[in-house]
Amino acid sequence: MQPPATKSTVRVAVLGAGNVGGPLCRMLLDDADGIEARAGVRLELVGVAVANPSRARQGIPAHLITGDAKSLAANRSVDVVVELIGGIDPARVVIETALEAGKPVVTGNKELIAAHGAELSRAAARAGVDLLYEAAVAGAIPLVRALRDSLAGENVWRVMGIVNGTTNFILTTMAEEGVAYEEALSEAQRLGLAERDPTADVEGFDAAAKVAILAGLAFRCDFPVEDVHREGIVGLRGIDIAFADRLGYVVKLLAVAERTDIRGPGDGGDPEAGPEVSVRVHPALVPHSHPLASVRGSFNAVFVEGESCGELMLYGRGAGGAPTASAVLGDLIDAASNLSTGGPGRAVPRRTVVTRPIEDLRCAWYLNMDVLDRPGVLGAVATAFGTHGVSIRSMEQVGLGEEARLIFLTHVAREGAVRATLDDLRQLDMVEHVGGVLRVAGGDEDA
Ligand SMILES: NC(=O)c1ccc[n+]([C@@H]2O[C@H](COP(=O)([O-])OP(=O)(O)OC[C@H]3O[C@@H](n4cnc5c(N)ncnc54)[C@H](OP(=O)(O)O)[C@@H]3O)[C@@H](O)[C@H]2O)c1
Repeated sequence: MQPPATKSTVRVAVLGAGNVGGPLCRMLLDDADGIEARAGVRLELVGVAVANPSRARQGIPAHLITGDAKSLAANRSVDVVVELIGGIDPARVVIETALEAGKPVVTGNKELIAAHGAELSRAAARAGVDLLYEAAVAGAIPLVRALRDSLAGENVWRVMGIVNGTTNFILTTMAEEGVAYEEALSEAQRLGLAERDPTADVEGFDAAAKVAILAGLAFRCDFPVEDVHREGIVGLRGIDIAFADRLGYVVKLLAVAERTDIRGPGDGGDPEAGPEVSVRVHPALVPHSHPLASVRGSFNAVFVEGESCGELMLYGRGAGGAPTASAVLGDLIDAASNLSTGGPGRAVPRRTVVTRPIEDLRCAWYLNMDVLDRPGVLGAVATAFGTHGVSIRSMEQVGLGEEARLIFLTHVAREGAVRATLDDLRQLDMVEHVGGVLRVAGGDEDA
């Protein structure tokens, strides 16, 4: 441990020196003068905690390294703690230790913030210090700051985005190269864009943690990650992606946090009832004309809609060591500046929201089914839709020998009604198989 620094210098401990912590440490060590010149604050790296302290770290002097993250977080010669270990334990304990010792904390840990952000924020407020987590959502994109600070007074009613680069790469590869899901996943793994166990990405867990954090910031609430409705991209078929394209759409894994009690400009909702929201992750058809449709490969983007700001989109690298370290550095500079002015930055007020059940969600749908090519089939299928009040916007029929494939787009309908229609369709003898069933984004115009 180095001797205490001068008062004008903010002493930083970085816990974790992996993909993100490594580049951050090197920025702090190699560019302290540049950071000071640009940001007006002198940051001094005084300690780095890792799991295996005996392993040499490129560009990080051995005397800074320790294997004891908790002691480093509590050390009196540290002013600000950066947690880049990941996961719940021991990250949670070391953050609590730092906050209890009155030190601001910066983290990129979406899993921890989504699961325990509310209690950690309360601990930070009690200590009168910052808990900042820009890097936890969409890596280098300054999204948390935009929602927390720039849009602090805005009546935001929808945040909709692509917040997982792995799945966006897989879907882009399927769409553009016409390959199956498995092949696109293998390609992502070969390029290091997907883990060997891709569950967190492809089942939507990663995006669910991020959208829970976004909902909390957008609607000024604590949104529990368990309440996020989650569907991943496993099982998505190339044929549905190809049909979607023909119909004018691209399939994306969307993270959506929206007010369901507000229908547009001028609608403030019912102040007595409080906000009602829907927070969810699922694949959806996005019109080619929507800005999110052009987000390709491993890029992320988030589209925000609100009363006065109208529509805005933030786009960039959602992951990667250096881009994410850049977002962490921004938070670190904020925390260090706030230390010198004597208090934490903006706290997000917390109100209670009600979650609309997914069955009551209203949107348009894409449905693809194989039926026997016989007279009367279309009538029976149309009756199933009509029984549940689901109105068909368009239908396309493709002959397949003895069978036919029907592709429907519906008008906006209640999800429960669409599910009931699907149950009825599956009971019909002439329906061989109900294949792709996907929501359509941006179908509000006929709600
Ligand atoms: N990678 C990205 O693109 C990205 C993007 C956005 C957010 N994030 C978030 O940033 C955080 C860090 O991610 P990462 O990709 O840098 O992870 P990583 O490469 O796995 O690095 C983790 C680091 O933590 C250290 N560590 C593990 N257990 C420890 C313990 N008990 N005590 C002290 N150190 C310990 C490891 O030490 P060893 O080096 O000795 O193994 C390693 O240096 C995560 O919360 C992640 O979700 C990452």
